[in-house]
Amino acid sequence: MPRQILILGAHEGLEEALRASTDARSATVHSARALLARMRRRPADLVLLADTALVPRLRAIDPQVPIVVVAAVGSVQSAADAVAQGANDLLVLGPKLEARVRTMLAKTYRVTRLIEHSRSLEEEAESRFAIVGDSPQIKAILQQVEKVARVPRPLLVVGERGTGKELIARAIHRAAGVPGRPFIAVNCAALADTLLESELFGHEKGAFSGAASMRVGKFEQASGGTLFLDEIGHMSLPFQQKILRVVEYGVFSRVGGTEELEANTRIVAATNANLEEKIARGEFLADLHDRLAFETIRVPPLRERDAEIETLAQHFMDRFMREVPSFRGKRLSKEALDLLHRYPFPGNVRELKNIIERAVYRDTTNELTPEDIGFLDVPSEAAAVGFKGQVARYERRLLVEALDRADHNQAQAARDLDLSYHQLRYFCRKHGLA
Ligand SMILES: Nc1ncnc2c1ncn2[C@@H]1O[C@H](COP(=O)(O)OP(=O)(O)OP(=O)(O)O)[C@@H](O)[C@H]1O
Ligand SMILES: [Mg+2]
Repeated sequence: MPRQILILGAHEGLEEALRASTDARSATVHSARALLARMRRRPADLVLLADTALVPRLRAIDPQVPIVVVAAVGSVQSAADAVAQGANDLLVLGPKLEARVRTMLAKTYRVTRLIEHSRSLEEEAESRFAIVGDSPQIKAILQQVEKVARVPRPLLVVGERGTGKELIARAIHRAAGVPGRPFIAVNCAALADTLLESELFGHEKGAFSGAASMRVGKFEQASGGTLFLDEIGHMSLPFQQKILRVVEYGVFSRVGGTEELEANTRIVAATNANLEEKIARGEFLADLHDRLAFETIRVPPLRERDAEIETLAQHFMDRFMREVPSFRGKRLSKEALDLLHRYPFPGNVRELKNIIERAVYRDTTNELTPEDIGFLDVPSEAAAVGFKGQVARYERRLLVEALDRADHNQAQAARDLDLSYHQLRYFCRKHGLA
């Protein structure tokens, strides 16, 4: 049953009757102002009104809540008017009103459940992309995001892997303030040039064998929104030229097409490569860098945001415990937190998240200890770890470096280390890299 019914208007006895016959909580409010204030405070599940005048304002507050107008007299016309104003239905006062409201409640029950579900999904999505952190560095970045979000120029987000570059790109998109516009991400490192070209620009029918129909590319899909070009540092030089043309002149053509199309999207590019070095080595076009970097947002590595480790660890714990209710009620011990503070986090925030989730999963006592966290390659402990510990550290370093070289392709890293794939998987699990 719906939880909260709000009633405005003199529907004598309706509230009592509903209270007696349903398990919904209903409340009669006595003024439009009071009703609007309650709706703003907390979503209602059904609103009953005496006339349609207020409906558009209620709709503006809550686009989804079922609103039913209870009128003294009813006609096909008045019902149509109510619906045109944004109401869901019209009931006519009379005997058995309460029974009809109950039927209405039953009918809206499914809708209410769907609304609740979609609200919780939205909240979940919001929290998934929320930027957590109170360090001066993150505060400065958030200010930069707000400032630049409304300026239609390309942006560059740079930082080590796992520092939160994609989250920041999404925050820029959100702060640009047009809900419903697309955010489209493309991983430029994942595709060969030819595929990337048709992925980004689309292709005309028959542009190449296999192009059976016209295909719209990501630039067009992202129209009016944001195109996130991830791992831009991995783009080949010829492809960088093509991107430069779009960024510079705002036009492009589909593969196999001649028509010039306008690129009406904001570009946010990201990289964990050092572009200055790449430019010096002739691997990245200085012109493209200059065009993309209207503003550069530098995301510092986690080890430079020490104050944030606890906040983030707590955030990831809370989220994981919400996701898996049987893990609820766990705390982080002081010793575990000390260990985290000494660790340099080469994988940055993503690594912290994985460490925390695994520790929550392993823990059996409700308090996360250093044992739950497992082995971390903490530099200052080097001398204290003994023979086995040092061998383990060396093993782990070999794995981390090979995985880095192989761009996290485990099969490739295994070949590189002359291990079988299964051996590599074993060592990764042993060192918490799985
Ligand atoms: N400030 C933050 N608050 C909350 N979560 C964060 C924060 N920074 C990063 N994360 C989380 O860490 C993970 C990695 O973030 P993200 O994918 O944005 O990093 P990235 O810099 O794009 O990494 P890569 O270079 O590997 O692509 C994600 O799960 C993200 O939600
Ligand atoms: Mg990323």
